[in-house]
Amino acid sequence: MADPAHSQQTEWEERYRSGQTGWDRGDASPALFSWLEQGTLRPCRILVPGCGRGYEVAVLAERGFQVTAVDIAASAITFSRGLLAQHGLRATTCLADLLEWEPDNRFDAIYEQTSLCALPPEKWQDYSDRLWRWLKPGGSLCALFMQTNKTGGPPFHCAVEAMETLFPPTRWGWPTDLPMRVGHPSGLHELGYSLTRKPD
Ligand SMILES: C[S@@+](CC[C@H](N)C(=O)[O-])C[C@H]1O[C@@H](n2cnc3c(N)ncnc32)[C@H](O)[C@@H]1O
Repeated sequence: MADPAHSQQTEWEERYRSGQTGWDRGDASPALFSWLEQGTLRPCRILVPGCGRGYEVAVLAERGFQVTAVDIAASAITFSRGLLAQHGLRATTCLADLLEWEPDNRFDAIYEQTSLCALPPEKWQDYSDRLWRWLKPGGSLCALFMQTNKTGGPPFHCAVEAMETLFPPTRWGWPTDLPMRVGHPSGLHELGYSLTRKPD
């Protein structure tokens, strides 16, 4: 039987190689600049899971963050490394499956831009447990939840009610203000929330 992790790696790599990268803005998301301008994200040790081509990784590194970026697709990591090198920036870039990878130390913040929607929903609980484990108490999870209002994927629809169950108030502080609505190149949109990890 095929190894599911290996087949995920092959599928994502094939999307990059064949140019089926509808999620790719070719630049950092306006959501990141909003969180930076608001001071929601300040220089710290930050994880960017499912970093794709790493535009956000480069912006964060340029702004003085200590960035660790992870992606399962070799082409994405190669592009990210090239982008960093082109601008004389440094970050730790890991070619790895987020559902197998573990960091050496916890992070102060996580910038989660449409990685959850890339994972099969049966893996979401495992992924959410990992995000909680990887963040320090009091750390920020800046998450962009993809809205497709369709069944199937990827991208899989991240309904707000489902996100409230996946990131429960026993573990996560939710903002009281309205989420940030961010247009997506595919014509869909994302909802941005900055969650706070509660103590163990
Ligand atoms: C929708 S794309 C988003 C990429 C980037 N965050 C962006 O917004 O441009 C999802 C990314 O997650 C990566 N990915 C999918 N499954 C993964 C896994 N299990 N572990 C690590 N990365 C994964 C894909 O290779 C892809 O780069």
